[in-house]
Amino acid sequence: MALATKIPATLIPGDGIGPEIMDAVLMVLGAVDAPFEWDRQVGGLAGIEACGDPLPKATLDSIRRTRLALKGPLTTPVGGGFRSVNVRMREEFGLYANVRPVRTMIPGGRYEEIDIVLVRENIEGLYVAFEHFIAVGDDPRAVAISQGINTRAECMRIVRYAFEYAATHGRKKVTIVHKANVLKALTGLFLECGEIVAREYEGRIEANDRIVDACAMQLVMNPWQFDVIVTTNLFGDILSDQLAGLVGGLGMAPGANIGPDAAIFEAVHGSAPDIAGKGLANPLALLLAACLMLDHVGRADSAGRIRKAMLACLNTDGVRTPDLGGKASTADFAQGIVRRLN
Ligand code: NAI
Ligand code: MG
Repeated sequence: MALATKIPATLIPGDGIGPEIMDAVLMVLGAVDAPFEWDRQVGGLAGIEACGDPLPKATLDSIRRTRLALKGPLTTPVGGGFRSVNVRMREEFGLYANVRPVRTMIPGGRYEEIDIVLVRENIEGLYVAFEHFIAVGDDPRAVAISQGINTRAECMRIVRYAFEYAATHGRKKVTIVHKANVLKALTGLFLECGEIVAREYEGRIEANDRIVDACAMQLVMNPWQFDVIVTTNLFGDILSDQLAGLVGGLGMAPGANIGPDAAIFEAVHGSAPDIAGKGLANPLALLLAACLMLDHVGRADSAGRIRKAMLACLNTDGVRTPDLGGKASTADFAQGIVRRLN
């Protein structure tokens, strides 16, 4: 039998809880013989410590070579001179689509049977951070100004990605979320493009639109009306945390950053400095991100085995981390999943 081909991929353990949840994920990936040949690199605070840069050249070069990465959360110091490393990475590799699926994994929570995929535009909008202050009198920061940028090309590309995702993943409906009643240019253009693309898929994928504030309310009142949501960068950031809340919190929400030249998989949550190093962190979100990565490289079989084992571990064995009301440590939970793999 031919040896299975290894797939080179960059591994960034990340800051805070990153290294402990990454160890847990690698334990599970090892148990399913995941095909990745890891090139371990640093970023965030670990990057600053190692070479004075939160996004070191070696890390960028590695991703440029492998075009595939699994990354832990990276801490961005608030204020100071550093731009968000995550934002820089998404720009650097043109990772225009941020796909964030959420699904109920533990029955008996606030909501049953949630199954929603949020597609967030990942490189434009207000995240271009064209910001400045204007001084008035002796206050150098008297006025703050921020400009957002949305281009027709990018709006078309991201909405098309969402509809195509729906069509190829057995989804029925796409909801275009915007604030076109107030931000008539910035998000009006997004809605306009959304409507054009929706017409291309007419008869195949149902489409509607929601104003973001009403969408936030409806996600609480009746989340089952949503299937795939596509929205601009900032709204997507906010709504994806809200979606995580519907299924038990940030510990449950993975994300895939996808571009034509590279794909980076990560959890939606950050580095959780409040619980770092204590063995309390839930590795599920990063493990679900690793499953998306397996799907991405054509190993849906291994991803499916892991997802099944996760459900058995959570619900049959009741092995859960403290954020899910359990007592298991990060490592116990990973071992519990490995025991359930078949
Ligand atoms: P956070 O997501 O790190 O934490 C928010 C809350 O959720 C905390 O109470 C934390 O303990 C809890 N939490 C998060 N992940 C958890 C997990 N896996 N298991 C159990 N509990 C978990 O958000 P925060 O505190 O706003 O940000 C901390 C740092 O992370 C910041 O420097 C921020 O810039 C960075 N960040 C990085 C992201 C990334 O690398 N993609 C995304 C979001 C934030
Ligand atoms: Mg966020």
